Amino acid sequence: MNLHLSTAGESHGPALVAILTGLPAGLMLDRAAIDADLHRRQQGYGRSPRQQLEQDEVEVLAGLRHGRTLGTPLALVVRNRDHKNWEWGMSPWPPVGEAAGKGTKPVTLPRPGHADLAGVLKYGHQDVRDALERASARHTAVYVAAGSVAKRLLAELGISVTGAVLEVGGERQSWESTIDAARADRDTLGGVVEVRAAGVCPGLGSYATRDDRLDARLAAALMGIQAVKGVEIGDGFALAGERGSAAHDEIEPGLRRRSNRAGGIEAGISNGEEVVVRAGMKPLPTLMRPLDSVDLATGEPAQALVERSDVAAVEALAVVAEAAVAWELAGAAREKFGGDALTDMKAAHGAYLERIRTR
Ligand SMILES: Cc1cc2nc3c(=O)[nH]c(=O)nc-3n(C[C@H](O)[C@H](O)[C@H](O)COP(=O)(O)O)c2cc1C
Repeated sequence: MNLHLSTAGESHGPALVAILTGLPAGLMLDRAAIDADLHRRQQGYGRSPRQQLEQDEVEVLAGLRHGRTLGTPLALVVRNRDHKNWEWGMSPWPPVGEAAGKGTKPVTLPRPGHADLAGVLKYGHQDVRDALERASARHTAVYVAAGSVAKRLLAELGISVTGAVLEVGGERQSWESTIDAARADRDTLGGVVEVRAAGVCPGLGSYATRDDRLDARLAAALMGIQAVKGVEIGDGFALAGERGSAAHDEIEPGLRRRSNRAGGIEAGISNGEEVVVRAGMKPLPTLMRPLDSVDLATGEPAQALVERSDVAAVEALAVVAEAAVAWELAGAAREKFGGDALTDMKAAHGAYLERIRTR
């Protein structure tokens, strides 16, 4: 069975939900490790105070017994602690009683760069909140929980996945002062993150169809994260300016490579080198000095919505991107090695490594 991930949840609704299907039975999960990844996602210089408010923790509703997967759908929940301030405004059912707390007044000031305008036009909403609540990156919390489970599975196959920040606001080192300056100007920043996966055997993904290609799948997974506008595999865009003689990774006896410009993937298949991908994040669209917009209630010029927001979230993106890459690699490994039980999957992996070792 292949891995599949479904999620639901609004930013200020009661909870975020993920259902993971296709995990093998017999995988031991560690609640503290999942919570540690959730904690990492909430860290980083330039985040909004909401991150202190939430302190995310995973709850498991199904698919696990005594810490061990059953081979059945795994249901994960991360509660939105902030929901207590939005109980009326984000009530799933028509709210009872006097309007109280946050989210009681309709938002009509769409932010350029956010889901606000395109979302209300597409879905016919009157209140921009109906679009922004799901578009918000808050629900990346459950992707991180799913990615944490995927990393546990990959560890059984000797694969580790690590995300890191390369730059924030164009700065490659010590970006705290750059973030401070943007905050003082009531502005926002983007940046670049890199994810590396070590221990990936040759043979994950395929050139057989576009959907099978590991590079395409990783790019789609990274592009699926809010605010990511560019993805590269290995040396990516830099390769476009090179000659072929300087762009490819020559092969030595023992089938080793002299370099890894391809980022560990050739023809949509992992080639045994470290998998290296990068994602570029645009500056966040909620500015404390709002951009020009139009009030949808009146059609008149107005300033865009100002709401509690991060100045930069590149460190959080590194954690989310790590989760996205881990999930895709775990999916590709499931397809290649199958197995209802983890022991079957590991045995197939071991037999395959033995076959290619003798080449
Ligand atoms: C981890 C993370 C945190 C984010 N935090 C914010 C935020 O605080 N304020 C904001 O305006 N956008 C934030 N974003 C970006 C928006 O969610 C995103 O720009 C918006 O949904 C529009 O989607 P698009 O940028 O993919 O077009 C964040 C994105 C990520 C990945």
